[in-house]
This record gives sequence, C-alpha cells and structure tokens, in this order.
Amino acid sequence: MQCYLPFMSVTTIPLTILGLESSCDDTAAAILREDQDGIHILSSVVSGQTDLHAAFGGVVPEIAARAHAEKLDLMVEAALQQANVSLAQINAIAVTSGPGLIGGVLSGVMAAKGLALGLGIRLIGVNHLAGHALTPRLTDGIGFPYLVLLVSGGHCQFLRVDGPQDFTRLGGTIDDAPGEAFDKTARILGLPQPGGPSVESAARNGDPRRFALPRPLLDRPGCDLSFSGLKTAVLRARDALISEKGGLTEQDRADLCASFQAAVADVLAEKSRRALADQGDLTAFAVAGGVAANQTLRAALKEVAGDTPFLAPPLALCTDNAAMIAFAGLELFRLGVADDMTLAARPRWPLDQTAPALLGSGKKGAKA
Ligand code: KG4
Ligand code: ZN
Repeated sequence: MQCYLPFMSVTTIPLTILGLESSCDDTAAAILREDQDGIHILSSVVSGQTDLHAAFGGVVPEIAARAHAEKLDLMVEAALQQANVSLAQINAIAVTSGPGLIGGVLSGVMAAKGLALGLGIRLIGVNHLAGHALTPRLTDGIGFPYLVLLVSGGHCQFLRVDGPQDFTRLGGTIDDAPGEAFDKTARILGLPQPGGPSVESAARNGDPRRFALPRPLLDRPGCDLSFSGLKTAVLRARDALISEKGGLTEQDRADLCASFQAAVADVLAEKSRRALADQGDLTAFAVAGGVAANQTLRAALKEVAGDTPFLAPPLALCTDNAAMIAFAGLELFRLGVADDMTLAARPRWPLDQTAPALLGSGKKGAKA
C-alpha cells in the first residue's frame, strides 16, 4: 500500500537515494544525492540485453526476467562503487514498479523490497513513464507545467505535466510506438538492432523525398498517432524495389531510411504543434525516451516549439536508466510518498488514470 508520511519525515537533507530499473531490456541502478547545492547524479549504470534477444526479433520476457534477476545485485554494487557510497548511506530506494514486462518489473521490486527491509529505509514504487516524463526537471530544473513528448520503443504519448503525480495525456499512439517502427524498418532493410541508431546513420546519406511514405492520422484532428501503416509502407517499397531490380543497393537503403525518418519526424512535429497550440502556459516542451536520441526528430521538434523553450535530455538520460527512477522517487519522497512490502509489480499503469486506454501491446511489453 502506498501512503503519505507526515511532513517532518520528508525533509531529510542531504538525501541519498538508490534507483532501480528493470522494466524492459535494460538492468540499471543509479545513486542520486540532494544537498544544499542541488541534485547530483553520483552514478548511473546500465546493462543492456540486446545480445540475449538478438536471435528472436524482439525482447523475450522470460529471458529478460532471468537476466534482470542475475544482474540487479551487480548493478547495485557497481552504482555504489562508482558513487563511492556505502549501502548504509542510502536513505531511500526507488524502483520501477510498472508498467513493463512483468517478470522484469518483479525482479526489480523484489530486489528493492529486500534492500529496503534489510536496511530499514523507505521504499518508493515509481512509474517508469513518470521517470521519463520528469527527466527534464532533473536535467534542466524546469518548473510545472510543461509538455513532454515521450517517444520510445514501447511508448508514444504527449503528456502535460503539472506535478510529480499530475499527468494529463493529450494523445498517443493507437498502435505501434515509433521505436518499434524504427526497429522494424531496420529489420526489413537488413540493418542491425536496435534499429533507431542504424536507420538514423543510414539516413544520413539518403534522400528523404525519394519515397512518398504516408503521414498517418494527419488528416484527423487531435494528437493521436499511428505508426504501423508506416512500417508496412516501408516493406512494400522494399518489395517493389526487389521485384524491379532484384535487390537493394546501399543508396536504396539510405533513401528508404531517410524517407521513413522524415515521415516519423513530420508526423511527430505536426502533432506536437497541435499539442502545444492547446496549452498556453507551458514552461517548456521536452522530449524523452529512446527515440528522442534522433537528431532529425530533435531538429523538427525544436522548430515547432517556437517561443516555448525546447529541451532534449542528454542521450544517456533519454534511454532507459535508473537515474530517472531515482529522481522520480526523490520527487515522491519530498511529497512524503512511501510504499510498504505489499508494493506490487504492475504490467499496465497509465500515468493519466482518466485517459481512455491505448490500444495494443508492443514487443517491448504492455503499453500504458
Ligand atoms: O526508451 P528506450 O531505451 O526503451 C524503451 O523502449 O522504453 O528506447 C529504445 C528505442 C528503440 O526502439 C530504439 O531503436 C530507439 O529507442 N532509438 C532510436 C534512436 N536511438 C534509439 N530511434 C531513432 N533514432 C535513434 N537515434
Ligand atoms: Zn523507457
């Protein structure tokens, strides 16, 4: 059960918090400290599982869960060592308790419970999406309210953030997440996984106007998005080239990647323009999640932001990491939030409880 503690117990300074993340295919631990000078990331370590899943064309939940269980204590040890902090100096533990692949989330929650119980310190369950959405406060210290576009391998949504627990979803994908579309496009074109970086790199030498790929849902009002038709269009364009010429040249690949990337950027930019137009009083427009690493997308979003300050966190804090979980935990700590040993792992956990559920369940787990 989550509860709120009395004011006196939430003012500890300096405060050192351990964050754990294991909701998808990255096992991560981080240590954050808040003192009079501000908030410092003392360490943030991530161990990816790309190699373990490479042969299967997606994340295999059972393999992921086992790898998390094997790696979590090693990651905690590494985070402590890098931070030069001992377990006895940790004041609280924040852990991703959803949404995500249930086995992985469970691994993290159980590890966090064991540590919190053993050390007699506060346990705080954190929503993974809140971790991404609050990151611009960690990196740039911005105030509320702001707009965040969360774009990753499992998620795509526009969130208005009014507080550490106050999120309004303005729109989101009705099928695939953009990262999935990047990964699928890479697979269709025989490029290595994860697809985002390889598509972006191939696109550098490509012509974004050569293939007229669709811009899904632009004809409909609102901020909802769709990406599954786009990846099918890439598949059709590839097959047309193969039946015409018997195969793909480097240039064909580069042009397809550039055309695909331009379509994703166009759609996200136009929907961002609409989301921004609806909200008058924002401190910033921020992008978060793994796809936020994409430079073409960043440039397109910066342009539509206009006078609203545009923020894109450093790459290591865009992709899954535990510093963002520790920070979200810190925000909750300040509010007096505490969980007990009944903290549950939640495969689905929408940030905006009032918004209608999004469709689909991606290869990286249930969407919120
Ligand atoms: O946030 P993240 O690390 O994991 C979750 O999905 O939660 O995001 C990973 C996704 C992958 O689909 C990957 O292909 C995509 O982010 N990605 C990119 C780039 N770097 C990573 N997509 C486009 N361009 C990139 N440079
Ligand atoms: Zn994520």
